[in-house]
Amino acid sequence: MHQRKPHRSRFMQTFLLFPGLGLFIFALASLITPAQASPQYQQDDNKPSNDFCLACHQQQDVTKKLGNELLPVTINPTQFGLSVHAQESVLCADCHTDISDYPHPTVKEKNLRDYSLVRVEACQQCHEDQFAAAHDGVHQAAMDAGNENAPLCTDCHNPHTQGRIVGQSSGQLTITARKEIPSICAQCHTEVYDVYKNSVHGSALADGNTDVPTCTDCHGVHNIGDPTTDTFHNNTPALCADCHDNDELMVKYGISTNVLKTYVADFHGTTTTLFEQQFPGQPVNTAVCSDCHGVHDIGRPDDPNTGIAMQENLLTKCQRCHPGATANFPAAWMGHYEPSPEHYPIVYYVNLFYKFFIPTVLGGMIFFVLTDIYRRIVNRMKGQKHA
Ligand code: HEC
Ligand code: HEC
Ligand code: HEC
Ligand code: HEC
Ligand code: HEC
Ligand code: HEC
Ligand code: HEC
Ligand code: HEC
Ligand code: HEC
Repeated sequence: MHQRKPHRSRFMQTFLLFPGLGLFIFALASLITPAQASPQYQQDDNKPSNDFCLACHQQQDVTKKLGNELLPVTINPTQFGLSVHAQESVLCADCHTDISDYPHPTVKEKNLRDYSLVRVEACQQCHEDQFAAAHDGVHQAAMDAGNENAPLCTDCHNPHTQGRIVGQSSGQLTITARKEIPSICAQCHTEVYDVYKNSVHGSALADGNTDVPTCTDCHGVHNIGDPTTDTFHNNTPALCADCHDNDELMVKYGISTNVLKTYVADFHGTTTTLFEQQFPGQPVNTAVCSDCHGVHDIGRPDDPNTGIAMQENLLTKCQRCHPGATANFPAAWMGHYEPSPEHYPIVYYVNLFYKFFIPTVLGGMIFFVLTDIYRRIVNRMKGQKHA
């Protein structure tokens, strides 16, 4: 088991320098600790060592009754030893501040949830930032409204087994941790998870691709906002554009980064953009990315069965807001294509025509006016000479 190194050497020093005192402490410790425990108290702060607690707590199948529920009290020493807390020399007693001895103080809580609700406060000592962030999130709001199923720190991070998730040198979330995020949320959001895992993003993540968005890229982690607000809805294009506007990322998958530009340029995008600038946070009724693509169920547009590149699939999306739309309605939208000889050739050639027609006509007129002025000046000067 991991010990705080400086403490142990100080213990040894004391032991060597003052053998009498050392022996006294040893004897005292053996008296209070059970026979199989290795009696080592941390001298500094008087907190019992992890070995002391684990000597009893590694025993299998020990439980404590809380009301009608059973609290299992077995802690696996190997798993605990691999946890980030053990590796950072955090002591059992740093979190369990009320326990230093056996028998333990009486537990007042009458069920498992109440037991956790009280114990979780321990995290705040060392993780102030996450605590403060969580205060503003939807989960805390649900909890405050009396929904005790909303997650506590310990529902997502088992304090006894939690591994390191942020690379020490990179400061970034590790790849393994990133892949596991959806399954953390899935404990409670099973329906969303089941849809997400079959989406183009979720299935790529399951195959080990961490370029795709997980739950927390779109929702945040400790301060998850309400996704049903108008602000969140109007902000969807920016959310998707975070990646879909990134050439370096998208070129790997051969996906066009024109999607945002063409979206903003079309009637829906223009309206949404202008609207959000002038009336932030108010409902806008035009289509955002998710109205056509979905959110948790985003698929490949060219999927032969469900893909929205198929006009009949796209039509059902349009009909939600354009109830009268018929089979050829989606063709009114140029999609993410910029007009080209292959896609929307008529629009392309009309654009092209105007590109040349307008400069030619305007240029011709200006040329005509200028030469006319010149002609008149020359004529007048000639007239003056003759007169
Ligand atoms: C002599 C054996 C023994 C030692 C040493 C011991 N425990 Fe326990 N602990 C138990 C038993 C048995 C239970 C089950 C309920 C009971 O009898 O109190 C328990 C229950 C618990 C519980 C759950 C109930 C509660 O009181 O909250 C926690 C947490 C706990 N121990 C933490 C610790 C920590 C931390 C240490 C070290 C400082 C420690 N224990 C040392 C035997 C021990
Ligand atoms: C990082 C803080 C932290 C550390 C370190 C820690 N615990 Fe806990 N422990 C908790 C919290 C919080 C709970 C409350 C239960 C919950 O919400 O899961 C808990 C619950 C328990 C329980 C009740 C059963 C359970 O799993 O819920 C026991 C027993 C226990 N701890 C023993 C220990 C022992 C023994 C050690 C050291 C080997 C230890 N704990 C280290 C935070 C910690
Ligand atoms: C006594 C201080 C202390 C307490 C109390 C504590 N932690 Fe930690 N925790 C740490 C330290 C130190 C680290 C390592 C962080 C680092 O290196 O940046 C850590 C790491 C973590 C990590 C992994 C972060 C990473 O950088 O990989 C999580 C998650 C975590 N703790 C959750 C909890 C939870 C949940 C609780 C309450 C049950 C808790 N901690 C209580 C000290 C503590
Ligand atoms: C709903 C699940 C959930 C809850 C509740 C939760 N966390 Fe986290 N936490 C995560 C996930 C997932 C990550 C990985 C970070 C990411 O996705 O960016 C994380 C990351 C962390 C980290 C690593 C540093 C960081 O901020 O990224 C720490 C430390 C941490 N959590 C502590 C806590 C503490 C303390 C609480 C309670 C106030 C808590 N967490 C509540 C899911 C949760
Ligand atoms: C322990 C259960 C639990 C876990 C784990 C959990 N949630 Fe929640 N979540 C809830 C509860 C309960 C609510 C509030 C009730 C509701 O609206 O469904 C909620 C609400 C939400 C909402 C707001 C829903 C709405 O309609 O307003 C979002 C978004 C959300 N959670 C995302 C996440 C994400 C992302 C994760 C993983 C990082 C996660 N949750 C993990 C229980 C959980
Ligand atoms: C690509 C971004 C994205 C990803 C990835 C994502 N979400 Fe969402 N989520 C959204 C958007 C946008 C909404 C709002 C949907 C709407 O307007 O109807 C939403 C809504 C929600 C809601 C509330 C409404 C509902 O459908 O129940 C919950 C809960 C939720 N998400 C949880 C999750 C969880 C859990 C995951 C991971 C398994 C996840 N989300 C992954 C963007 C995302
Ligand atoms: C964190 C980055 C990220 C975010 C945010 C993101 N995506 Fe993606 N998306 C990807 C990556 C990477 C792929 C390629 C996955 C693959 O092919 O394996 C992809 C694939 C797609 C595809 C399939 C394209 C094709 O032709 O195969 C569509 C459609 C899509 N995303 C739409 C969206 C929408 C809509 C949003 C916003 C709600 C969004 N994405 C948010 C990274 C992201
Ligand atoms: C009005 C419906 C609609 C809206 C709004 C919409 N899309 Fe699309 N999207 C489509 C259709 C249809 C296709 C398939 C044909 C095509 O490329 O035009 C597609 C294709 C895509 C592709 C695949 C491109 C490729 O190269 O494979 C991505 C990625 C994408 N959209 C992302 C987005 C993003 C991000 C937004 C918001 C900024 C958005 N879409 C808004 C309907 C829409
Ligand atoms: C979420 C609702 C919504 C969806 C889904 C939607 N539209 Fe629209 N669309 C609107 C609104 C609202 C306007 C009016 C915008 C304005 O006046 O600025 C509009 C305007 C238009 C216009 C401009 C002409 C007109 O009638 O004002 C066309 C063309 C159009 N949409 C085509 C489509 C097509 C094609 C689809 C399906 C691929 C689609 N829309 C999906 C809400 C939607």
